[in-house]
Amino acid sequence: MTNDRVLTVVEDLERTLVEFIRKHGITHAEYRAATDLIIAEVEAGEASLLFDVFLEAAATDMDNHGRTGSIEAIEGPFYLPGAPWLEGPPYVMPQRPDEAGVPLIFHGRVTSETGRPLAEVEFDLWHADAAGQYSQIHPNIPDWNLRGRFRSDANGVFSVRTIAPPPYEIPKNGPTGTVLDALGRHFFRPAHLHVKLRHEYFGERTSQLYFPGGEYLDSDVANAVRDELVLDVTFVEGAAAADGKSSVDARYDFAFAPAVSDA
Ligand SMILES: [Fe+2]
Repeated sequence: MTNDRVLTVVEDLERTLVEFIRKHGITHAEYRAATDLIIAEVEAGEASLLFDVFLEAAATDMDNHGRTGSIEAIEGPFYLPGAPWLEGPPYVMPQRPDEAGVPLIFHGRVTSETGRPLAEVEFDLWHADAAGQYSQIHPNIPDWNLRGRFRSDANGVFSVRTIAPPPYEIPKNGPTGTVLDALGRHFFRPAHLHVKLRHEYFGERTSQLYFPGGEYLDSDVANAVRDELVLDVTFVEGAAAADGKSSVDARYDFAFAPAVSDA
């Protein structure tokens, strides 16, 4: 059965690519190299990585266009559903006893776009460890390390303790790396927290939050940094802390418009 949306979009994509082939005088050998690249990406498990690096932020921008309240961000290729629920409050992300990294408190508030607190919002948080690696993606990390779910309280306030992730290089030894290398681009993403929020008021929203002044904010390989996605960060020197340990206090307030029904 014909699908009007597919017809409109795919036929335009076809026209665009045919024009592109003519415009650049693409040879058959180059065409075959491109199809071989897509096959290699799939075989290397990097198909999502390739498209996420080059195109996901543009699609997310389209979803954010005209949106009131907090914008969304790219999900990236390393999200896994089903992260464990954390016991608390206070909430602490799953981590190894000797987990490296500066302690981080991620906290803030979730409201409607008009400022009404949203209680019991589900947070699904995931981020890299101090080596820039993700559990279940990179080897030798316990399952669900630095992945966990928790909820906001009755006032929409949330807080979780974890470690500050660093900037990291995306996988560079596979076909995506070959493409980026040929373009002369680096492989780094700035340090970030990934989070999905779920609530009957707004549905599901995906965010990704960055640290002000961090490396690669202006040259993210995925071109996904937006000013609205930067955390409000205070570095707490160990000497001023009750436990004598330095830490990072990172605040972000979410304000969401109600979910729009597709019906
Ligand atoms: Fe990430």
